[in-house]
Amino acid sequence: MGSQDIVYVNGAFLPRAEARVSVEDRGFVFGDGVYEVLRAINGRLFASRFHNDRLRRSLEGIRIALPKGETPERFTEIGKQLLKENDLLKGEATLYVQVTRGVATRLHNFPPPDVPPSIYISAAAFTPYRELALSGAPVISQPDLRWGRCDLKTINLLPNVLASQAAKEKGAFEAMLIRDGVITEGSKTNFFGVVHGALRTHPCDNHILPGITRSVLRDLAREVNVEFEETPIRVDEIPQLTELFLTGTTTDVMPVVTLDDKPVGKGKPGELTKKLQRVLAESLASGGD
Ligand SMILES: Cc1ncc(COP(=O)(O)O)c(C=O)c1O
Repeated sequence: MGSQDIVYVNGAFLPRAEARVSVEDRGFVFGDGVYEVLRAINGRLFASRFHNDRLRRSLEGIRIALPKGETPERFTEIGKQLLKENDLLKGEATLYVQVTRGVATRLHNFPPPDVPPSIYISAAAFTPYRELALSGAPVISQPDLRWGRCDLKTINLLPNVLASQAAKEKGAFEAMLIRDGVITEGSKTNFFGVVHGALRTHPCDNHILPGITRSVLRDLAREVNVEFEETPIRVDEIPQLTELFLTGTTTDVMPVVTLDDKPVGKGKPGELTKKLQRVLAESLASGGD
């Protein structure tokens, strides 16, 4: 068995190839579940308290109750065990935690309360985008076709998948989503831009995922006297953007240098973006729990 082969499914640590879920799992049939992705650096999880709180909110938001004794904190402990079992205690890795509404005959309404949720946790090696973070990334815009509860991190990701694929087919790193004439976020990232000297991002409402990197960065930015304005950037303001960047657990602060093939600002990573990139990198290097 090679490294990175052990996963956790419903109480068991198993080789990935032997891990099974039922075809009647509601995650498989309805996309009825929620998830988290955490960053591990040298075996320490970054901002796990924030991820655990968001998982709790996602579970409550779709009304999945965990059985007694199961908690997001227990899942991250299992995740740490997986890092060990898979020889991922050195360097960079990610943890994936997924909870679905369990296995039941296909009916839209919830199964009986005694049906336990299905829990799946895995770990994988991860390489940050170091070179792209220096040069900056191309991005395309796409319509935001998602539902009205984007604040919940559900495994229903079809509009995100389609937008991400559209970006890939155009050679872009990410799709920036537009709803009702404003930038909401990316298919898997939050977006920030500088307009007339002000750093702005979409407020945390039902149209975006409250990114953990977004909130960590807000606190770090304050320490270096940078504030975000939580005012959405309108499409008609895009030509005035002097800087644009995105954030995420696996993307950190990524400068955006072209949008729909047109340069953003001077077409290279902006000064504010680079400053925030530095503060986040320092926090990642020293932080964790
Ligand atoms: C839609 C969406 N927005 C934003 C993010 C960034 O969130 P985080 O910083 O917690 O990774 C993600 C991460 O997967 C996402 O899927």
